[in-house]
Amino acid sequence: MADLKVGIIGAGGITDYHINGYLKAGADVTAISDTQIERAKVQAKKFNIPKYFSSYEEMFKKTPEIDAVSVCVPNKFHAFVSIDCLKMGKHVFCEKPPALNANETIQMVNTAKDSNRILMFDFNNRARPESQVLMKYIKEGVVGKINSAQALWIRRCGIPGFGGWFTQKNLSGGGPVIDLLHMIDLSLYFMKFPQPRWVLASIFNDFSTNPEFKGPWGIPDVKDGKMDVETAAHAFVRFEGGEVLFIRNSWAEMNKREEVSVTFQGTKAGGLIKRIFKRDGIDETAIDECELYTQENRCPVNRKIIVEPDEKMGRERAVINFVNTILKKEEPFSRAEEAIILMKIIDAVYLSAEKGVSVEID
Ligand SMILES: NC(=O)c1ccc[n+]([C@@H]2O[C@H](COP(=O)([O-])OP(=O)(O)OC[C@H]3O[C@@H](n4cnc5c(N)ncnc54)[C@H](O)[C@@H]3O)[C@@H](O)[C@H]2O)c1
Repeated sequence: MADLKVGIIGAGGITDYHINGYLKAGADVTAISDTQIERAKVQAKKFNIPKYFSSYEEMFKKTPEIDAVSVCVPNKFHAFVSIDCLKMGKHVFCEKPPALNANETIQMVNTAKDSNRILMFDFNNRARPESQVLMKYIKEGVVGKINSAQALWIRRCGIPGFGGWFTQKNLSGGGPVIDLLHMIDLSLYFMKFPQPRWVLASIFNDFSTNPEFKGPWGIPDVKDGKMDVETAAHAFVRFEGGEVLFIRNSWAEMNKREEVSVTFQGTKAGGLIKRIFKRDGIDETAIDECELYTQENRCPVNRKIIVEPDEKMGRERAVINFVNTILKKEEPFSRAEEAIILMKIIDAVYLSAEKGVSVEID
């Protein structure tokens, strides 16, 4: 019998990665719930999950043996559902973004502490083999102190469905800044989460009504649905110790191609982790790069780091790490408190863009 029994909450586009991750980790996927029960039923059939429900409350009533859950619902419900599950004694693996804002994230982190349960967020890009190997170099001191980084997730035609929950601010929290937050998070991870002080940002909503800018990821368009989030953002963050981070996130910008990357400058080495696509948005066509730049024996040296490719972008590996963290077999790739710093930066990006001035973070 498996050491861990898991329930899945939300049976949408991201759920396959979670279920496959749990199965690879040797956990039992005991039940799945979705407010649209047909969706839960389809996934239950596909993966031989014994039970499916239209609410997680009913799922816990009928399968109280569940130890842990994945929260895979639209962003607006992350905090509410996760807090409820933590209070019911379940470990929680919540999809990104952690919540709609830093305040909600703080409440989630506090509830996890009070309930003595593990709360982790799906920062799957930390689980990529390239990220983990770069982190080894950073921990070993090869990179030195990272003074600056550039975080990019820039799409050309990548609006994830017009009028669905992704494009409604009250349901999603925002556009690409919050949806594609992974490279911001990865930069902070490499920089060891310094304390942010100032943010200066602008956001744009060009192409937000142009169907040519729809991407291959996301959910179907909703006729007459709202589109009140940004399509691109450019921001600059300054940290307490003088470090800086440049952010560029977009769903719709006329870039050469989709690029997902972090570059950084350390006092001993620079580095790059980068994914580009042969077909934008299609992970199966990804080309990954991972390099360190040093000065050795009076020569500039480019170290190309070759790892086993993971086209799934760490999405399954992150779930495996959640299971192994609960079972104390592995150190966690992420700690819930780190998400508060990330969300404070995201809140400040939106505030700075709205006010047109730089914003201080406490
Ligand atoms: N880590 C990644 O790479 C990645 C990629 C895509 C999406 N996501 C995140 O995953 C989450 C889900 O996105 P998606 O693309 O699967 O969306 P989706 O719209 O395809 O699926 C969401 C599902 O949640 C269900 N739902 C809503 N409220 C519920 C509730 N209270 N209980 C149970 N089910 C409920 C909906 O009926 C729907 O089936 C989002 O937070 C998104 O940001 C992460």
